[in-house]
Amino acid sequence: MRRSRKRLGRAKGSAKPPIPVRKRTFRATRPPSRETSSQSKILYVTSEMADFVKVGGLGDVSSALPRALRDHHDVRVLIPGYREVLARHADISVVARLPAASGLPACDLGQIEIADGLVVYIVLCSDLYDREGSPYGDTSGLDWADNDMRFARLSLAAAELANGLADLDWRPDLLHLNDWPSALAAAFLAWRGAPTPTILTIHNLAYQGLFGAERLAALDIPAHSFQVDGVEFHGKLSFLKAGIFYASHVTTVSATYAREITTPELGCGLHGLLRTRSDQGRLTGILNGIDERWSLPADSHVEARSDSDADKSRRLNAERVRRAFGLAVSRGPLFGVVSRLVHQKGIDFAIQGAQALLREGGQLVVTGRGESHLESALQKLAARHPGNVGVRIGFEESEARRIFAGSDFLLMPSRFEPCGLSQMYAQSVGTLPVASRTGGLADTVEDGVTGFLFEETSLAGLLGAMYRAVDTYASPQKLRAMRRAAMQRPLGWSRSAGQYGALYRSMLAAVQGRRSSYPPCALPASPSTASGRKL
Ligand code: ADP
Ligand code: GLC
Repeated sequence: MRRSRKRLGRAKGSAKPPIPVRKRTFRATRPPSRETSSQSKILYVTSEMADFVKVGGLGDVSSALPRALRDHHDVRVLIPGYREVLARHADISVVARLPAASGLPACDLGQIEIADGLVVYIVLCSDLYDREGSPYGDTSGLDWADNDMRFARLSLAAAELANGLADLDWRPDLLHLNDWPSALAAAFLAWRGAPTPTILTIHNLAYQGLFGAERLAALDIPAHSFQVDGVEFHGKLSFLKAGIFYASHVTTVSATYAREITTPELGCGLHGLLRTRSDQGRLTGILNGIDERWSLPADSHVEARSDSDADKSRRLNAERVRRAFGLAVSRGPLFGVVSRLVHQKGIDFAIQGAQALLREGGQLVVTGRGESHLESALQKLAARHPGNVGVRIGFEESEARRIFAGSDFLLMPSRFEPCGLSQMYAQSVGTLPVASRTGGLADTVEDGVTGFLFEETSLAGLLGAMYRAVDTYASPQKLRAMRRAAMQRPLGWSRSAGQYGALYRSMLAAVQGRRSSYPPCALPASPSTASGRKL
């Protein structure tokens, strides 16, 4: 028997969901949609999920990985009750009440089962999450002033679920946390002396969740933890550092990035702690995949029964993109950019390199959103080169997919790239990335085989790789061979899901006392770069 759940409906057009009032009646439990009894229970905690809301790759990963793991584990997801979630589901069942803690408000825990049976728990706190904007900021791009409360509340909800909720007959054996917004859950569990093991996956070390030390008390963080061996980072409270310090195990999204973040260059000030975790065998790189259900918009042409069909499809896709972006008809190479417009992505190099690209007979289409100086620099570039540079500021999934399918090359001159999904989407449809050899780009693009990598993230580096791409474009046989190789790359989730599964099993075996400790996970050996330099 399970406590009855109240349906949290949302009338069409109503601004706010009704305040949930719990009913304490009983009702028979519905049989689980999958065989879950002997499976380990994993709670995957995330601040984005592409089913509802996505700012970048974390949203894609949070949608695909829990599903890829479900054959072997009872994986459920926990997310905040954003407006997009409430709007999409009029049938949220309230399954538990989460008490207030210091300044963190009491709230309900909701549950939905989405189309393919994946169970998603939702932290229902309208004051914190039901807003117009992104998970992290308002419509003008400013961070929400109460992000500390919003994500401490999410983290505490995860820890409470792990500790067991009186009203809920499901309790996770392991928490899988993602980035700073859920990292604090590992710390809440440690402070409560709870044995539930935790994995923190770092998708991007540059976003750390830094807040003033005066916020500790309001966030239910014990004052004694404000020290080097705790949540303190250069005089501030760091959610991400807390997670790295308190989680049982830390992973990141490629083997190369796992090594890079232990260096001062890419460690964002946390390289010392990450080096320690790595030395303990508690830092592993597990490469992301892309969702095999990934599909192109219906109006794209990707059927490729023969090389000549493939060439024709690509031409049709390219024509469509050119038309949509107001570019002139051309037989030259089409370069695409699909990106958040932020420093990390090296968009400034792409802007500086555009002139050279046009001189080579190329054209450029860009879709992206982000820092206003990059948005306006791109718009100026398009205005200077009408017919040859097309820019659309925005975030529209079908547009992104049309560019992946219609471009010959995808530019990704990232300064760092923990994994990167865009280069994988591009390769899966035979579009060749031109990318810096960093992080997951180094691990997913084979230079001269499935794309073009450059060693140094600089204008000179980018131009060198771009010229190689243009030369290849002029050699149809080589170009076809590379496109075929790119499309044949295995980019799905099965390998990575297997690695996460092995890590879960090993950590759970340790907790269940079958081993005093699980064996350290050694980092994979450094692949040599083309120059023979080790990263
Ligand atoms: P990051 O998470 O750092 O932004 P990734 O390459 O891992 O980089 O993931 C980016 C995701 O966001 C991909 O799914 C990509 O297609 C999508 N994306 C990026 N920019 C846009 C955009 N302007 N419009 C639509 N989708 C975008
Ligand atoms: C981050 C990284 C990106 C990665 C994504 C998903 O946003 O910037 O490289 O692919 O997370 O892990």
